[in-house]
Amino acid sequence: MSTILTDERIPNNVDLGSDKKLQRALEAWQPNFIKWWCEMGPEGFQADQIFLRTAISSQADGWAHFDYVKMPDYRWGIFLADPVKDRTIGFGDCFGQPVWQQVPGEHRNALRRLIVTQGDTEPASVEQQRLLGQTCPSLYDLRNLFQVNVEEGRHLWAMVYLLHSHFGRDGREEAEALLDRRSGDENKPRILGAFNEPCTDWLSFFMFTFFTDRDGKFQLLALAESAFDPLSRTTRFMLTEEAHHMFVGETGILRVVERTAQMMKEHKIEHPEDVRKLGLIDFPTMQKYLHLWYSLSLDLFGGEISSNAAAFFASGLKGRAKEEQHEDHLALEGSYGIDQFKDGKFTREDVPLRTAMNEVLRDEYVADCQRGVDKWNRAIASHGIQFELKLPSRKFHRHIGIYSGVHTNLAGEPISKEEFEAKREAWLPSEADKTYVKSLMTKPITDPKEMANWIAAPKQGIKGRPVDFEYVRRGEL
Ligand SMILES: [Fe+2]
Ligand SMILES: [Fe+2]
Repeated sequence: MSTILTDERIPNNVDLGSDKKLQRALEAWQPNFIKWWCEMGPEGFQADQIFLRTAISSQADGWAHFDYVKMPDYRWGIFLADPVKDRTIGFGDCFGQPVWQQVPGEHRNALRRLIVTQGDTEPASVEQQRLLGQTCPSLYDLRNLFQVNVEEGRHLWAMVYLLHSHFGRDGREEAEALLDRRSGDENKPRILGAFNEPCTDWLSFFMFTFFTDRDGKFQLLALAESAFDPLSRTTRFMLTEEAHHMFVGETGILRVVERTAQMMKEHKIEHPEDVRKLGLIDFPTMQKYLHLWYSLSLDLFGGEISSNAAAFFASGLKGRAKEEQHEDHLALEGSYGIDQFKDGKFTREDVPLRTAMNEVLRDEYVADCQRGVDKWNRAIASHGIQFELKLPSRKFHRHIGIYSGVHTNLAGEPISKEEFEAKREAWLPSEADKTYVKSLMTKPITDPKEMANWIAAPKQGIKGRPVDFEYVRRGEL
């Protein structure tokens, strides 16, 4: 089961050849996907040879094969994690019953919505990042960007497979629509807010892969618990790929932090303006980008109090991350304290636990983000520099949920709209900040021996190759 058939038009480990109708439908979708990739994928590098990993087995050890490949020739396919024998539903009203191999009629619409919403984020991020190659800080980073991009493309395949195989004509129409919406397009935007935001500089890219891909990790962990077994198996395999995306974000920011801290020490400077004079990204600017991408990503978890979340949990569609770590899998009796905004202030009120499942998942996300931020701060401190990056309150700069109508400061204390607007440029990237960051990234660094001035070299290369390996070769080999 775990070996992937790579000689077929669509590589897969789901025995696609045994279902001719499904195979034909997916083979008809494939050219549309490639057309979308060539139009909306990385611009200017489609004819180049990229040192990429491709899935060859769904086993945790050694599933990946590394070699040069032109991105349009990448072997996107359908890979599910191996089935868990006698798996039963791990939470909700059907706790302990066998998982479903088919979609129950009563959950059809909700499941389709969950799959489409997840699926929509995958091509969206490729669209958001399509111009970044043109300003890459190194070939190492360029290759990592493209690895993330092709895997997001594969995640789209993962969701489209579920739509085609389990949702009939509706599913096929949804699969077409996934190639039709466009990130940031006013008329046909992507479904979720953060996936319509521009991501056109590398500081934003690293923040995106740290904060926004991490939302992806937690959504996938919650879906991996699903009673709908094909969804569970496909998301479990996606999680192995997602780990690399967050590695790119975490180490990307770490290298920016290290470079700035190291040069501040070397040149004995403290003031952000002096840091900028050296062509580096100052810490207050990094902090503002962090505020932006963290708050946008928090929105992706949905409302704090949500009857949808409660229904998904009750019916077994979407659980908590690592459900087995919880003791009570029914969550019928517990409550959860949520700060509600009333009469100009926040008051904690208990709500039934099931309605707070988005917030439960968000808690785990916040803790996971904090772990990365701590790592960055240790790097800053190790150079003897006094600055601490901080996650703002989860109430800050929100556009979804109960805090969306409330203006707060970074600590999450309510303030007036006027106060917020007066502080906006101190808390979130201003036009001048964006212009400055972009001014550092005007051309691609394509000599394997070079690294942009604003970022430190990585500690090691990829798959045993040196840092200055030619990870991207222009043109034909
Ligand atoms: Fe993804
Ligand atoms: Fe991702």
